[in-house]
Amino acid sequence: MANLLAGKSGIVIGIANERSYAWHIAKSLTEHGATCAFTHLPGERNEHRTRRAVNAMGLEQPWLRPLDAGKDEEIEGVFAAYAKDFPRLDFVIHSIAFAERDLLQVGKFITTPRAQYLSAIDISAYTLLAFARAAQPQMKASGGGCILAMSYYGAEKVVPGYNVMGVAKASLECTARYLASEMGQDGVRVNIISGGYLRTLASSAVGGTGSMEEEVEKRAPLRRNVEGSDVGGTATFLCSDLGKGVTGETIYVDCGVNILGA
Ligand SMILES: NC(=O)c1ccc[n+]([C@@H]2O[C@H](COP(=O)([O-])OP(=O)(O)OC[C@H]3O[C@@H](n4cnc5c(N)ncnc54)[C@H](O)[C@@H]3O)[C@@H](O)[C@H]2O)c1
Repeated sequence: MANLLAGKSGIVIGIANERSYAWHIAKSLTEHGATCAFTHLPGERNEHRTRRAVNAMGLEQPWLRPLDAGKDEEIEGVFAAYAKDFPRLDFVIHSIAFAERDLLQVGKFITTPRAQYLSAIDISAYTLLAFARAAQPQMKASGGGCILAMSYYGAEKVVPGYNVMGVAKASLECTARYLASEMGQDGVRVNIISGGYLRTLASSAVGGTGSMEEEVEKRAPLRRNVEGSDVGGTATFLCSDLGKGVTGETIYVDCGVNILGA
């Protein structure tokens, strides 16, 4: 496999297990020569789960630190620790989201309380800005880099059950554009991959997805569901020099589902 990312290193945030989009992204980045550092949600069980998934990628002694992205001091701490241990920061992968499961049920958007609405935006969207700010000095010193986050079609159109997460994803996509416009002068690119439905811990919290895979297989232009490696490949392209002219974009990797009108 071509060494598109030889000599590049960065942080991957969002591996819960081997099904996580972040896992597929890290696998592809690593296969193309990148060095990845990782975080896990605080707690022994979470650490064990993330470590096992990273080990399964063939990385026996990963750089792995706890991070609750809802806490500014933890974000700053992780990026400072990374900067001590790695000479360059070429990419940051943001692959996290959170909203209360009860609010992700069909017909329940209107029940969303203020606090939960704000917390979904906080963890799922604001954190991109916080990661970008923490990454900026080292990325600038590295001559630029690539910040990448994961979104979904429910940011743009109503997908039953996606509810407050759709609002958070719209905010995430817009946050990426503003960051891209401010960070471009330092060679930092900020992009979004809008991934198709993939069965993961996070997506299983969304109601109304029961028949999603069958429907996509029938309707998608490519007549199949998206695979983690599809997103991994696009992330690799964006993090590599092949993507050097792309910033502020939301790129769909969904087997074409988003182009359909009916
Ligand atoms: N699975 C899909 O169908 C799909 C489609 C499009 C976009 N996405 C997006 O992809 C990203 C990854 O989700 P996934 O589907 O791989 O599920 P996942 O459950 O494997 O990953 C979600 C991650 O978010 C992390 N997280 C939640 N709250 C956090 C916090 N406070 N601090 C740090 N980390 C926190 C979890 O630990 C987990 O690792 C999310 O942004 C999700 O919205 C998923």
